[in-house]
Amino acid sequence: MQRLWEWFDERLHLAPVRRALLDNLHKPVPGHVNWLFTMGAALILLLSVQLLTGVLLMVYYKPTGREAFASIESIMYEVPLGWLIRSAHNWGSHLIVILALLHMFRVFFYGGFKKPRELTWIVGVMLLAVILGFGFTGYLLPWDQVAYWGTVVATEAPASLPVLGPITREFMIGGNEVADATLGRFYVVHVFLLPLLLLSLMGLHLLLIRYQGISSMRRTDEPEPTPAQLRVDGGEPFFPNHVLRDSATMYVIFGVLVSLALLYPAHIGSPADPLNTPAGIKPEWYFLPAYQLLKYVPEVVGVNMPPLLVLVLVLLPLVIDTSPERHPGRRPRVVAGWLIVSAVIGLLGVLGHLSETSSTFFGTTYHFDVQGVPHRVVDVAEGGEEGGED
Ligand code: HEM
Repeated sequence: MQRLWEWFDERLHLAPVRRALLDNLHKPVPGHVNWLFTMGAALILLLSVQLLTGVLLMVYYKPTGREAFASIESIMYEVPLGWLIRSAHNWGSHLIVILALLHMFRVFFYGGFKKPRELTWIVGVMLLAVILGFGFTGYLLPWDQVAYWGTVVATEAPASLPVLGPITREFMIGGNEVADATLGRFYVVHVFLLPLLLLSLMGLHLLLIRYQGISSMRRTDEPEPTPAQLRVDGGEPFFPNHVLRDSATMYVIFGVLVSLALLYPAHIGSPADPLNTPAGIKPEWYFLPAYQLLKYVPEVVGVNMPPLLVLVLVLLPLVIDTSPERHPGRRPRVVAGWLIVSAVIGLLGVLGHLSETSSTFFGTTYHFDVQGVPHRVVDVAEGGEEGGED
């Protein structure tokens, strides 16, 4: 090992690089760092598993309208362990969105987005958009009824925008309707463009974090603490203390992913049929708030809301919350605003989930209409007509 190191060092003069790496490994993390600060590491693990399972799926998947569905069937029922790889990829996509949102909440509440870490936050917002882009493009690939019609509905919304709308839709789906060309485009974006973007942005995100260190709870108008000050304030070394904590979370999350894939394997519906619209088509849960909003407001307003939200997130550290305070209790207005917006988005998601379904609560069955409004279903035995409303 020593000889190998000398061989490289003689040629590349690696001593300064080695010193920088070692310094970095031992750099302490602030004293308030706890388990909530391990979600970023869990995301790195999940995204790596996602890349690996994605590459394995690519070996058998065929991105054409004629073959896509059959190739997924073959992955599920013929390819050895194909069902497990596909199920892990499927569950991984959900866990990544959940963890990315939790990670963003943790950074928000600890004020980790504030000066001088605005860029880390903005790169994070871009990462979130890329993750949602993966979900959007991946949804179509199985080419079953839900995938096909879900994408038809989702791509119809932007078409309502004046002037640019129809052009955007045509560019997205490669024609006037969701067809072979759409599958080809979504596939290229899903397996090439987005992974390229993800890896570059993740590299930049992690580089910034290692370079600047995790934020302390000091006000932003005070100087950043030096490693010696962090140690005095109870900070632990990044290696091995925080790395061990990160590894434990990664281990648990990996266990959750494998358990979900084993216990609840991904399923596949019936092949896409452009002539037969199934009832109750809905997007993935993380797009439900946007989908539900379109039912209450004019399309032009609804379609512009998600990009506006991204803009607000980008502007958060630059314009919206520039006070020097990090503690959530000392920036009550921004925290209240964040909670209200999150609650509204959550409520829209729940209404979207319930809409056009029936559920029984305390012995009474309700039908939730398109807008999510509940109507009591009157029992036939009570003398009313089943499906009737009061
Ligand atoms: C691909 C997804 C992501 C990965 C792999 C990732 C990874 C990480 C890691 C490992 C850390 C350090 C430890 C921790 O706080 O957990 C971190 C910190 C940070 N992340 Fe992310 N992150 C991702 C997405 C995001 C998103 C969506 C945002 C915000 C919109 C964000 C904003 C930040 C910021 C500002 C910090 C520094 C916080 C501080 O110093 O207190 N990240 N990220």
